Amino acid sequence: MHPIRCATPADARAIAEVQVASWRVAYRDLMSETYLAALSTDRREAAWRDSIARASPEILVAGEPDAVLGWIAFDRSRDPGAPAGTGEIWSLYADPAHWSRGVGRALWAGAHPRLRARGFEAVTLWVLTGNPRARRFYSRLGLAPEPAQVKTFEMGGRTLEEIRYQGAIGSARPLPADEPGAPQRFQPPPRVL
Ligand SMILES: CC(C)(COP(=O)(O)OP(=O)(O)OC[C@H]1O[C@@H](n2cnc3c(N)ncnc32)[C@H](O)[C@@H]1OP(=O)(O)O)[C@@H](O)C(=O)NCCC(=O)NCCS
Repeated sequence: MHPIRCATPADARAIAEVQVASWRVAYRDLMSETYLAALSTDRREAAWRDSIARASPEILVAGEPDAVLGWIAFDRSRDPGAPAGTGEIWSLYADPAHWSRGVGRALWAGAHPRLRARGFEAVTLWVLTGNPRARRFYSRLGLAPEPAQVKTFEMGGRTLEEIRYQGAIGSARPLPADEPGAPQRFQPPPRVL
């Protein structure tokens, strides 16, 4: 089972490194090689350090204190007009070297009870329509795509499309007790910030 803990400022660099590495693999068919090669780890590190200091979004990382195998960031929905009871997974990334080993599921299992504890009744997230691996992952967690919630944007000289997924916090599928990262065995660490 992957340990799940709250991010600290010391994790900011590794969080940025995982994000850049993950983009370069997951989005290689969606974004230009030049754009992906130019992604700045330094800029992302500064942004995540700031987020960790503000504790918004809330960030959990998978891995021992000196390692970050993946991370999940969540908070209130950023969608205009979203009800106060709707939370959003702002981002979720696993190190490509550790994909398909339960890191993503452990992170979701860690975030789920915290979203519920914050009073959210539903959770949404946006995912690129051309990212089948992530879409399959979210479907298996019990989230459903909203075909009417699709938007396009420009990035790296390409037009990209993303779709929103949603699920009820009460009904989003927690992990069975015998799976890695099962919430029953998740012990939230004390917040360090
Ligand atoms: C999407 C993402 C977060 C999923 O994380 P992950 O750690 O690979 O996911 P998990 O390992 O928990 O589950 C994925 C798969 O591993 C399998 N798996 C889970 N635990 C496992 C284990 N212990 N051993 C072997 N396989 C396992 C799952 O059954 C699942 O199978 P599938 O790939 O056939 O669907 C990750 O692939 C990622 O970072 N992708 C790039 C970034 C991205 O797209 N983020 C989402 C943006 S919205």
